[in-house]
Amino acid sequence: MSEQSQNEAHLQLAESEQRYRAAIDNAHDMIQSVRPDGTFEFVNKAWLDTLGYSQDEVADLDIWSVIHGSSLEHCQLFFSKALGGEPIPYMEAVFRTKTGDPVPVEGSVTDRYIGETIIATHGFFRNISERLHAEELERENAVLIRDEQARYLEKMAALGKLSAGLAHELNNPAAAVSRASARLTEALAQRDQALNTLVYQGITKDQCRRLTALAAAPLQPRAEQLTPLARDRRETEIEEVLDELGVARGWSLTAGLAEAGQTATSLRDLAAQVSPTDLEPTLKWVDATNATRESVEVLARSSRRITELVQAVKGYTHMDRAVEQEVDVHDGIESTLTILNHALRDVTVTRDFDHSLPQIRVHGNTLNQVWTNILDNAADATDGTGAVTIRTRRDGDRAVIEIADDGPGIPKEHLHRIFEPFYTTKPQGAGTGLGLDTAWRIITEEHGGTITVESQPGHTVFTVSLPLTS
Ligand SMILES: Nc1ncnc2c1ncn2[C@@H]1O[C@H](COP(=O)(O)OP(=O)(O)O)[C@@H](O)[C@H]1O
Ligand SMILES: [Mg+2]
Repeated sequence: MSEQSQNEAHLQLAESEQRYRAAIDNAHDMIQSVRPDGTFEFVNKAWLDTLGYSQDEVADLDIWSVIHGSSLEHCQLFFSKALGGEPIPYMEAVFRTKTGDPVPVEGSVTDRYIGETIIATHGFFRNISERLHAEELERENAVLIRDEQARYLEKMAALGKLSAGLAHELNNPAAAVSRASARLTEALAQRDQALNTLVYQGITKDQCRRLTALAAAPLQPRAEQLTPLARDRRETEIEEVLDELGVARGWSLTAGLAEAGQTATSLRDLAAQVSPTDLEPTLKWVDATNATRESVEVLARSSRRITELVQAVKGYTHMDRAVEQEVDVHDGIESTLTILNHALRDVTVTRDFDHSLPQIRVHGNTLNQVWTNILDNAADATDGTGAVTIRTRRDGDRAVIEIADDGPGIPKEHLHRIFEPFYTTKPQGAGTGLGLDTAWRIITEEHGGTITVESQPGHTVFTVSLPLTS
């Protein structure tokens, strides 16, 4: 080759090297060339920028000084594979910056040969910390969404329980109202008919007055206050007297008369006051009058109960009040007990209330959720048949509410976990594990209070302490 063409070849080579150098330096990825002894042959600008070294410092480094401890072992394996002539199409590793910070990367490694000999490994890496960070955020977000959904479900479950309990509670008085009104209609007709007969048969004014007086003063004791045996005996006696007095179909009146408190003696007295033909319509009139009075009583009692339940729901949800308010803590507890009446029907609830407790400031209806969740657990713990004691007292500037049950208690190894979200020992479908987590949040985060638990077999107490406003 001539000298001139040799020069040209050199120039071309230099130009080609420059071109590659520029391409390497402008690349976004970190590029490194590492000699078999671990020292760097070259690194590009992205590499220097990412790891925080200057070009001059790289001469004193080797590959192991820029690999994070957490990925050292793993990289040694890859490095020896690469030196063994095995290209690595994909790997993940953690680099270490000059200041010691980890930089997660992914990339590939190939070898450079002269003849058969490997003279360097070339690594191409991309910083993936942002991607990992985004993935982490996404995971956290998914957890948050899951928590939120679970809380929503817990609320729905609580609402479901509440409405089921309420429907059950309302069902009794509602059914009673409908029975009583049917009975009332019938009794009024029967009374009219009996009175018509009496008037037709020429009842005197005086007899009429006596009848009315009789209606106004029912005899005692009423049958419902008697033992079943005494009641039976009374019915038999009445039936015998009616037979003796020759009342047709006397048996159809027996139960009603017995229920109204009539006795063999009172019926004989009555019979002595009216003519024999008037006796039967009189007895019918007495029976119908009693039925009327009783139905009206049932109607009054049932509508009172319905009003009570509606009041309790209002009190429970604070439908009619502002978001933040001062309340007597006992009102909320009572509303909750009424709402939970169904779940607690066989639980003996004892109240030991300090009614002199000043009011406390509450946020909406959330405190009632706390009582609900604790009482619900107590009902579960005692299988719905134990004893629950609710005690309130003042402790300095705090109101203390203790709810105790005589269930089997919480084993020591569970005790520190029960306020954790999703922690439950109940079968799937029975527990969400969010009841006490919710209670804890409401008490501590919303009301600046504390909630603690102490438990031994037969005695578990949840203690809630809330700041008093005055
Ligand atoms: N009064 C109690 N007696 C016994 N164990 C209780 C009592 N209250 C709570 N626990 C325990 O705490 C756990 C968590 O309660 P909670 O957060 O209300 O969730 P859940 O009732 O859905 O299980 C219950 O599963 C139960 O093991
Ligand atoms: Mg619970």
